[in-house]
Amino acid sequence: MLRISGISKTFNIATNNEVRALTNVSLDLEEGSFLIIIGMNGSGKSTLLNAVAGSFLVDSGSINLAGEEITRWPEHRRAKLIGRVFQNPFSGTAPSMSIAENLALAARRGRSRGLGPAVDGSVRSDLRDRVSTLNMGLEDRLENPIGSLSGGQRQALTLLMASWLKPELLLLDEHTAALDPKSADQVIELTQKIITQEKLTTLMVTHSMQQAVHLGDRIVMMYKGQVLHDISGTARERVTAEDLLRRFADLRRKEQLGDSLHGLLPDATGTDELMAIFKALASVDHHIDTREIALIEEFARRWNVAAPELSEGATAEGSDVLHLRSTVADYLQISPPADQATELLDVLHHFVSADEQVSEEEEIVMDEISAMIMGYVTQSGDLGLHEVVIVPQSDAQKASIAQLLPGAEPTVMRGGTVYSVGRFFSPKYAEVVCDKYVDLGLFTTRLSSTKSEVHT
Ligand SMILES: Nc1ncnc2c1ncn2[C@@H]1O[C@H](COP(=O)(O)OP(=O)(O)O)[C@@H](O)[C@H]1O
Ligand SMILES: [Mg+2]
Repeated sequence: MLRISGISKTFNIATNNEVRALTNVSLDLEEGSFLIIIGMNGSGKSTLLNAVAGSFLVDSGSINLAGEEITRWPEHRRAKLIGRVFQNPFSGTAPSMSIAENLALAARRGRSRGLGPAVDGSVRSDLRDRVSTLNMGLEDRLENPIGSLSGGQRQALTLLMASWLKPELLLLDEHTAALDPKSADQVIELTQKIITQEKLTTLMVTHSMQQAVHLGDRIVMMYKGQVLHDISGTARERVTAEDLLRRFADLRRKEQLGDSLHGLLPDATGTDELMAIFKALASVDHHIDTREIALIEEFARRWNVAAPELSEGATAEGSDVLHLRSTVADYLQISPPADQATELLDVLHHFVSADEQVSEEEEIVMDEISAMIMGYVTQSGDLGLHEVVIVPQSDAQKASIAQLLPGAEPTVMRGGTVYSVGRFFSPKYAEVVCDKYVDLGLFTTRLSSTKSEVHT
């Protein structure tokens, strides 16, 4: 019915104001379907509708409506197939002309152009009938200038005009955004009624999530001139206004993250090791979220490497603070330039704080890896003051420790045998490590240069 294939539009090409408003947008709309378009300001919603209506010609791609290839058609020719209602109640009507005259013009849309708005008797009674369906009492005011009506009344009339000749396609661009809530509700009710009665194929832009979930049979969310989400079928039936708002919030966070990371780590040595760090950090709170996936994908693009497969809500294997520390150790092992290591630290801080809250685990692990990286950058050598050791209580335990910590050499300390798990910078981190082995039933101790504590 409507087939939009890979259209792109850039405004003000090759000037300072160049705007890529649509990038390779494709949408197929079946006859009689009612598509709702949502998206942040400037995401290209109006531009998409304008491209279909022919307000300008697209740079590339094609538009097919009702079997006609309309891509190069001028706007007035497309108007024979398309009805439109804009946000502003004052566009689309001639304010000084009467209601009857405006409607008569609409009734002749695309036909007998050049004739005046004379209204004969049979047309007039048809007008009365149709206007009375609005239930606004306007049928008795047909001679009043349209400019004397309220915004809601004008939008209702404009809607009537736009759907008068059962257009192949109805375009509604935030047509209730300028109205007070009560008028908006009235116009929405009318919109629903007309679209259902006439079975109109419709593209409607709205900023109201309530409208988005209560009207239509499919929701498309645009972002930066592209279709980001396309929700139909059972997913559409289940979606709530809160779900949609959450997607907006995700996008806003993603944008903030993009800004704060701008220019960091433009290229990097050890991209495999860095990807492993990101993946481990995303998993450390046992829940990978879309923002974290977005960050990883951003860097994968930046470095032109493949992003690891991650899905929202999942937990990657090895998702604990120990694993994260070892990914950082692996990275420092390949001797990256000091400035890159410093930038990595910035990236990691942004990564954990772009979340609404920094979890305790994130805080502890950031303490530890910050110290590791700063130790590396300042060439301070091994700064770890907190050593975690396991004191085996039996030969059986010795054997299981040897399995847990391959390569750990037993050393004699204060007359007994101990196995060192490692030296750590952050006392809290050392405690987490300690607890991990305590949980395994091992007698584990944290030794610091100033004091020692015993945990069982
Ligand atoms: N006629 C135009 N000339 C220049 N820039 C435009 C024009 N129309 C839209 N834009 C720009 O294209 C982007 C998308 O705008 P628009 O489609 O109006 O967004 P939305 O309707 O989603 O708020 C914006 O950056 C906007 O400033
Ligand atoms: Mg708009």
